[in-house]
Parts: sequence; C-alpha cells; structure tokens
Amino acid sequence: MLLGIAYREQLVGYVQLAFISHLERRAALGFVVAERSARRQGVGQAAVILAMDYGFSLQDLDRIYAEVYPFNASSLRLLHRIGFQREGLLRQHEIHQGQRIDLVVLGMLRGEFYARHPSRLPSQLATDRAP
Ligand SMILES: CC(C)(COP(=O)(O)OP(=O)(O)OC[C@H]1O[C@@H](n2cnc3c(N)ncnc32)[C@H](O)[C@@H]1OP(=O)(O)O)[C@@H](O)C(=O)NCCC(=O)NCCS
Repeated sequence: MLLGIAYREQLVGYVQLAFISHLERRAALGFVVAERSARRQGVGQAAVILAMDYGFSLQDLDRIYAEVYPFNASSLRLLHRIGFQREGLLRQHEIHQGQRIDLVVLGMLRGEFYARHPSRLPSQLATDRAP
C-alpha cells in the first residue's frame, strides 16, 4: 500500500505499508516528506497515523515495524512520539555510501496503537477489532 501525501494541493511525499503479510498479520512502514517546506507541520505524523490505522483496522494487522538509520533523528523522534518501541539493532545490515551500517528496528502492536490513537477511519470502514 503506497499513498501520496498531499499538502496545500501539492504532492509532498508518501507513506507506505510494505511486505504486508496476512499470514503473519504484519507489515513494514516507510514514509518520506520530501518537500522540505512541508516539513515540521505535523504532516508526516498525520500520514503515518493514518497508514497505521488503515493497516490495523482494514488490513487486520497485529504488528507494524520500521527499520531506520541510527542517524535519522527526525524519523526516530516521530516514531517514538507515535508510540513505537525500539526492538533491536540489525548490525551492519546495509551499505550506505560505501559503508556498512546498522539499522534500528522499531515496532508497534495493534493494542498499543489504539490505546494512544483513536481510529480516524469512518466507523463503517473500521472492523470490529479496530479499537
Ligand atoms: C522524518 C520526516 C518524515 C518527518 O516529516 P514531518 O512532516 O516534518 O514530520 P512532523 O511535522 O510530524 O514532525 C516533525 C517535527 O515538527 C514538529 N511539528 C509538528 N507540527 C508542528 C507545527 N505545527 N509547528 C512546528 N513544529 C511542528 C514535530 O514536533 C517534530 O519535531 P521534532 O522533530 O523536533 O520532534 C521527514 O523529515 C523526512 O521525510 N525525512 C527524510 C526521509 C526519512 O527519513 N524517511 C523515513 C525513513 S524510515
């Protein structure tokens, strides 16, 4: 699932649920607000919350996780603010600009999400299990 993020009638980024597994009921979260003038307005946070609500309610997921570079402070702050927990470190997991680099793994479970964020989807779209 890939959604464009619109801000002031401009496409400024995207939010994605990748590797959706209905067998394991989990997915990986990705997000970018590429247009710098749209940053620090709450756009990224709102888009991530919407995508997670979609994943937990309409896709019936139990878990959503993200893999983030350790130096990506703004993304780590955003995820912690929403309620993600740091779960571990994938050591030397990627090659970034020619250097092997760790990735931080963060995750959030359905119950943790709805304890902090009421569903934003129209009630007729959300499943009974959502809240
Ligand atoms: C990380 C990223 C998605 C954040 O997007 P964003 O739209 O700026 O996110 P938000 O506006 O929700 O939050 C960003 C900051 O603005 C602040 N903010 C939110 N609304 C605000 C407002 N109305 N006025 C002032 N500041 C505000 C937030 O508190 C947050 O502050 P902090 O970083 O000091 O904690 C964006 O910077 C980005 O795309 N970075 C590069 C790509 C990337 O790293 N993607 C993630 C890969 S996993």
